[in-house]
Amino acid sequence: MSSIETVLTETRVFPPQEAFKQAATISGLEQYTALCQQAEQDYPGFWAALAQKELDWHKPFTAVLDEANAPFYRWFHDGELNASYNCLDRHLSNRGDKAALIFEADDGTVTTVSYRQLHQRVCRFANALKKQGVGKGDRVIIYLPMSVEAIVAMQACARIGAIHSVVFGGFSSKSLHERITDVGAKLVITSDGQMRGGRAMPLKPAVDEALSFGGCEAVTSVIVYKRTGGDVTWNARDLWWHDLESAESDYCEPTWVNAEHPLFILYTSGSTGKPKGVQHSTGGYLLGAVMSMKWVFDHKATDIFWCTADVGWITGHSYVAYGPLALGSTQVVFEGVPTYPDAGRFWQMIEKHKVSVFYTAPTAIRSLIKLGGDLPNNYDLSSLRLLGTVGEPINPEAWMWYHKTVGRERCPIVDTWWQTETGAHMIAPLPGAINAKPGSCTRPLPGIMMDIVNEDGSHIDGTGGGLLVVKKPWPSMIRTIWNDPERFKKSYFPEELKGVYLAGDSAHRDDDGYFWIMGRIDDVLNVSGHRLGTMEIESALVAHSLVAEAAVVGKPHEIKGESIVAYVVLKGARPEGDEAKQVVAQLRDWVGKEIGPIAKPDEIRFGDNLPKTRSGKIMRRLLRSLAKGEEITSDISTLDNPAILEQLKQAVS
Ligand code: WT7
Repeated sequence: MSSIETVLTETRVFPPQEAFKQAATISGLEQYTALCQQAEQDYPGFWAALAQKELDWHKPFTAVLDEANAPFYRWFHDGELNASYNCLDRHLSNRGDKAALIFEADDGTVTTVSYRQLHQRVCRFANALKKQGVGKGDRVIIYLPMSVEAIVAMQACARIGAIHSVVFGGFSSKSLHERITDVGAKLVITSDGQMRGGRAMPLKPAVDEALSFGGCEAVTSVIVYKRTGGDVTWNARDLWWHDLESAESDYCEPTWVNAEHPLFILYTSGSTGKPKGVQHSTGGYLLGAVMSMKWVFDHKATDIFWCTADVGWITGHSYVAYGPLALGSTQVVFEGVPTYPDAGRFWQMIEKHKVSVFYTAPTAIRSLIKLGGDLPNNYDLSSLRLLGTVGEPINPEAWMWYHKTVGRERCPIVDTWWQTETGAHMIAPLPGAINAKPGSCTRPLPGIMMDIVNEDGSHIDGTGGGLLVVKKPWPSMIRTIWNDPERFKKSYFPEELKGVYLAGDSAHRDDDGYFWIMGRIDDVLNVSGHRLGTMEIESALVAHSLVAEAAVVGKPHEIKGESIVAYVVLKGARPEGDEAKQVVAQLRDWVGKEIGPIAKPDEIRFGDNLPKTRSGKIMRRLLRSLAKGEEITSDISTLDNPAILEQLKQAVS
């Protein structure tokens, strides 16, 4: 896929349809521009008014943006609120019986949970957590499949001021262990297993193993939700979820917390081997989730909203666990995979639940095109009114298919650019105001001050590309990296850039002022919308007893966006033939265990050495070219050992 090249020549424009525009929260370009101007003129005032109007405060704030200790910004910091109260209690009087969650299991079984029922379950579970000694500020690890329980667990933590850290169920016991110890968790919530594509897969063994690695002494109990009914090894610290929940009462007083109190920590990959614990606030974060639901998803009380992301990622935090609930929306939550029982599952579910707003990743769209590009035609998709994408650039071909075959040329598409660190959408075409262009995330949300700068932080017009930055702090921004404030400063506010937030992406701007994301500037890969650090994978590889050295790069991939290519130098001789195949299988398996199956290299190439400069620096630029199969025509005069390039041309197959 040559997405960068194709987007650079993309000229099609799709204006909002008149009827959509008329009914939209932000209707027309003038209204968008007016909001942007308001934010320009009185930045704190703009956000303060929204925070007052959209959130329920226990104690109203008087302070808005505190920049005294920049870049450790604070928003609304003398106000008090509770996220769970905002997501549940405030709906009980007028929409208690409205469906909050329509949960569809892997096998198609549907469970509907009303706001009142969800409130009850969250209260009961919050009481149970308290009884386990969990209180305000304590960290709780959640390692659960997509389920009502995962949402209950997150909301219950929020209710008592505990800080959750959700770990995606696809991460290995090693990754889980790293997060448990870094965050200093007191309790882990998991399930016996998970159902995916008709098969039960165990989950709890990873928790048992993680805790056996040591350094987790702070974990006093493990709560286990029974999902598959599979056998589990039972330890003294284990407790069944259902036993705890049934013993509790239906109400738990929310713990009021400061707006800056951490709501959660979510780990994401950076350019070193160690994942970063991105810490989010309560007030500012929730405001970001709410405003983007309203502006970008044009939220309506009658919507059936479906975001297909797992709660293990930021998308599942902002647009499953918090955003839709804060607005009293009805949302679909799906346990399974898009290809089971066949590649029509998403379309079938849209028809069945009359989904009106559908939000998924380009990688899912591309794989569903490949597996059954005509399948949407077999379903009634007339309930849809808005489509969204997230996680990576969408290539215009996939955009057009989504527009025609899923949206039937009626539905606007919002291509949302944002990050774990930004908490909420930052750049996206507001569907009733901004003309979409396939492949561009278009323009920033009101109150979000995006820019393109050069290496020294100066503004450039961006037509030739540059660094994507945010010029002013915004409410839902990352507050710090847990346990590592220095890394926070260095990663996001490097001195050369003079105080602007560095996103880590390069972008260019077209003549209409639209942003086009070109890719990461750091050693971070985007594989099927999952963010992975090349260093993380390299560290995993060199931890294997056979491996002396490893370098990992990304290579464009038709479905996944990027695939993982690993160059490996073994301690012994360079393997060939069957032996090479065997080592490849071993190493892939190993990375799966060290990090998780999503990090397994797609290709492994062996060399006697890696291409290095005379000073010993690995020449990644060359490795990227080799991965793509390009002839090396560039200057390799600084290369110490040109002969090994030949060896590294071939992947083991
Ligand atoms: C990185 C952030 C935000 C939720 C999912 C990913 C890439 C994200 C887009 C988009 C082009 C995108 C960027 C960004 N990205 N959305 N619409 N167009 N690129 O969150 O794991 O924190 O990754 O994903 O490179 O920096 P994440």
